[in-house]
Amino acid sequence: MSNVKFMSGENIPLEMHKVRMVQKVNLLPVEERLKCIKEAGFNTFLLNNRDIFMDMLTDSGVNAMSQEQYAAMMNADDSYAGSETYYRLEAVLKDIFAMEYFLPAHQGRACENIIARSLIKPGMVTIMNYHFTTTKAHITLNGGIVEEIVSDEGLKITSDAPFKGDIDINKLKKSIALHGKDKIAFVRIEAGTNLIGGQPVSMDNVREVSKICRNEGIRLVYDASLLGDNLYFIKKRDEKYKDVDIKSITREIASLVDVLYFSARKLGSARGGGILINDKDLYMNMREFVTLYEGFLTYGGMSVREMEALAVGLVETMDMEVINQTPIIVEALCNELLAKGVPVVTPPGGLGCHVDAMQFCSHVPQAEYKAGALASAIFIASGVRCMERGTLSEQRNADGSERYAEMELARIAVPRRVFTLSQVKYTADRISWLYKNREIIGGLRFVEEPKMLRFFFGRLESIGNWPDILATQFRKDFGESL
Ligand code: F0G
Repeated sequence: MSNVKFMSGENIPLEMHKVRMVQKVNLLPVEERLKCIKEAGFNTFLLNNRDIFMDMLTDSGVNAMSQEQYAAMMNADDSYAGSETYYRLEAVLKDIFAMEYFLPAHQGRACENIIARSLIKPGMVTIMNYHFTTTKAHITLNGGIVEEIVSDEGLKITSDAPFKGDIDINKLKKSIALHGKDKIAFVRIEAGTNLIGGQPVSMDNVREVSKICRNEGIRLVYDASLLGDNLYFIKKRDEKYKDVDIKSITREIASLVDVLYFSARKLGSARGGGILINDKDLYMNMREFVTLYEGFLTYGGMSVREMEALAVGLVETMDMEVINQTPIIVEALCNELLAKGVPVVTPPGGLGCHVDAMQFCSHVPQAEYKAGALASAIFIASGVRCMERGTLSEQRNADGSERYAEMELARIAVPRRVFTLSQVKYTADRISWLYKNREIIGGLRFVEEPKMLRFFFGRLESIGNWPDILATQFRKDFGESL
């Protein structure tokens, strides 16, 4: 990648793969997009894929697989117990991470369920750089408390800090002193910190946190779901690792933690999940939950075909030309938007481009779910489906009051190796148009609000008829164009 130079000196992302199977997508006229988002209760999760032009909701389970992954799927050994597929996957995981034990699970949150059930007792604290929605839900469901101590830079929209996902070491020390080690269930580091814009964690930080945890006898849990992106950034942004191969970096991280888990819907571009552990007692304890909630130990809720694809996908993750594909597209999208003045999280992270709804919709109150409104407006303007990552994605406080998110983001995820540069440029163009017309965007309010993870199924309505005005303005400005 880095060896390809364009005459203009411009930094243009170059796809290091060719497309050999395609899926047709539809771009509906703006009037129909308006109708669809209304029917979906202004919740992009409730849109139907057939009405979407580019699905940039998530990078989870929607990444393009390699021909080697598809080929491996044909080789799967269907068996309830003792499947050869399981042993192939286990061997790959042990080779890459060099950890003792592997437990399979059907996806990332299933790992979180097992970890939370095994390690949390009511009233215990978990300390982490930042929560993920499902992580927090499992911890609180088991009576645990989540404490977030990401670096101050992590919560700034605009920053030059290369590793915004780092844990604030002083806060970690203070928190341990305050609670005492016996009240702390574990410290958790999330690679490629999702909710603050896919921001990486430095190796120095993992090393320092690990040293503190080991001195104190506190377990360190590492969420490796976004490890691929994080590895790319360690190589790109930490001079010390420029020439270190990816597998050595991965092994170094794994050597510093006690429990490592992942969503294979992201890491390895397949579908599934898993937990790696060194401690035998903990393994035996978690093993029971796997058989109870996931399936027998040699599949853990995954299909054998997906396990084969995962084994290959994990090996491919050790290749810079595979893992650089999403970050370079994210950077290109962010740069196009920044050039038009659109506020996005910087530096660009992995996972996706994160538009700052706090600034974009500065005129919409936080109580009216400004990031949710922006996600709906983006769909009307472009047919691109993105995701709200703000107050809507939070759970209400125990007293029913709203818990306002620290960041209000519209996340435009970039699934791995799925979209082309022209599609990305189209996305940037429509969002730039929306930014020019941002005053039209108004707020949303709930019509139906589920108690748990309300962003998945909640239905909302617009406050006023701003969506209609937006569609009319679009038609006026773009004429016959979709
Ligand atoms: N941890 C992180 C950092 C994640 O990003 C996710 C999922 C999970 C855990 C849970 O994994 O979905 O396999 O159960 N993130 C998805 C997203 C849902 O869209 O960002 P899962």
